Amino acid sequence: MTRPMSKLASRWVLIAAAAVVLAFAAVLILNRPAQLSQPLIGGPFALQTGDGKTVTDKDMLGHPYIVYFGYTHCPDVCPTALAQISDALAKLPGKEIKVLFITVDPERDTPKIVADYVSSFDPRIIGLSGSPEEIEKVEKTFRVYAKKAPGKDGDYAMDHSSVVYLMDKKGRFVEAFNLERSAAESAKELESYL
Ligand code: NI
Repeated sequence: MTRPMSKLASRWVLIAAAAVVLAFAAVLILNRPAQLSQPLIGGPFALQTGDGKTVTDKDMLGHPYIVYFGYTHCPDVCPTALAQISDALAKLPGKEIKVLFITVDPERDTPKIVADYVSSFDPRIIGLSGSPEEIEKVEKTFRVYAKKAPGKDGDYAMDHSSVVYLMDKKGRFVEAFNLERSAAESAKELESYL
């Protein structure tokens, strides 16, 4: 017959059990930030500029930047957003904030066409295109919705989500940038990420 555990020994068993529970909890809690830190929006990309250069997410590090998806045939939403972004940038002369305008219509929007299109906006806006596969990949990482909407005579529009992604200088998604305010207010916020 074994002796019943002394009071002291049973207390140690309880303490040991509590330590195991705490260790488990710590593992669970410590693992969580690792999961949360995985980017939910954004990721690696490699796309083409009009002058034949490749722009990657790595090239953007060091300065905050905006990513906007659209297409050059867009009748209304894209030019409006690009004009609003340009107005905000105009309040920040010489500041290193770039804007990537990425086409969702690589079939028609060659890098050159996108470059020509953005040339009527702030020069810090860079037009980007790529192969349909590359575009699809970047759309996925940014959770972009884009779908062809057939029109007359084989023509088509692109239905697409219109989110202005603000990325910080480390390339992390900050927020959907609000353009529904004055250019000065938008500029003030952008400046705070420099
Ligand atoms: Ni558009």
